[in-house]
Amino acid sequence: MMDDLRTKYLSQIDTASTEAALEDLRLAAIGKKGEVSLAMRSLGKMTPEERQIEGPRLNALKDEITSAIAAKKAALEDAALEERLRHEWLDVTLPGRGGARGVAEGSVHPVSQVWEECTAIFADMGFRVAEGPQVESDWYNFDALNIPDHHPARGEMDTFYMHRAAGDDRPPHVLRTHTSPVQIRSMQEHGAPLRIICPGRVYRADFDQTHTPMFHQVEGLAIGRDISMANLKWVLEEFFTAFFGTKVRTRFRASHFPFTEPSAEVDIQCSFEGGTVKVGEGDGWLEVLGSGMVHPHVLRAGGIDPDEWQGFAFGMGIDRIAMLKYGIPDLRAFFDSDLRWLRHYGFSALQVPTLRAGV
Ligand code: DAH
Repeated sequence: MMDDLRTKYLSQIDTASTEAALEDLRLAAIGKKGEVSLAMRSLGKMTPEERQIEGPRLNALKDEITSAIAAKKAALEDAALEERLRHEWLDVTLPGRGGARGVAEGSVHPVSQVWEECTAIFADMGFRVAEGPQVESDWYNFDALNIPDHHPARGEMDTFYMHRAAGDDRPPHVLRTHTSPVQIRSMQEHGAPLRIICPGRVYRADFDQTHTPMFHQVEGLAIGRDISMANLKWVLEEFFTAFFGTKVRTRFRASHFPFTEPSAEVDIQCSFEGGTVKVGEGDGWLEVLGSGMVHPHVLRAGGIDPDEWQGFAFGMGIDRIAMLKYGIPDLRAFFDSDLRWLRHYGFSALQVPTLRAGV
């Protein structure tokens, strides 16, 4: 009779297909009025000898049924989970759905896009990205760059000065007027040799169709034992060709910056036909950056010995080259946060330039 119970329940447990069926079986077998429980109760009517044999056997049967139910329950749960996973899969590589639900409606601003493009192209040539504060001491923004107090270049920069409390007569901090102070900070931090670019925000009190009080520059600096203007020209031509996707000729014009000697302004080749600017063709020229060989005073301010090291530097307007590359006519629209403009000129967040994918 015990063997019958065992066979009956174990095979029913084995074929149970729901947790509810298992629970019914548990009650039928070892619940208060279950068959096994009733059998246990009948032990009282047995002789002591019988009880000594039947008692342990019934207990063992109860344990066996309990663990068979637990095992089957776990198996059913696993199967249910497997089944759910089979149906509830999600392809996380699918693009977001646009439209009414507002997903994937954002776009990457052309300045961010060009910032990333610059970073990718220069990184490929071994330049690392450096950063510096936007609120800068006047020493880093001017003095260290060979622009001493009362130098006319300070006046020309339309500098924003930070407020100082009355009675505090330390020189005021400034909103950096260019990314050049990062040259000094990088030299101090890393010494020579050095190869960095610094894309960043800069500020000048100037506002018209071609100027905004905040704009963007990318600074470049390369220092080594025998770095020359020829290296500068190669790096810049390499950059413009990768950036505009076409061979771009450059023209170096002698110029003057306090922090470089000699200094040059660099123009890129372009045509102005039909009211649009086309880079890399025609016989017009457009100025895009300032550059030169780093002045010995500047190297010294950065803690580098000018008798041992030399290098080139350049500073380029990011907004300007973004306008040129993507045919954007008005600089001020960059900072209007006009959604229609952003939808038109913005970039998909999934198409950020990288070294792997290119620009
Ligand atoms: N800092 C200059 C400016 O904002 C641009 C510049 C010119 C940077 C020459 C340089 C350089 O590094 O060598 O107008």
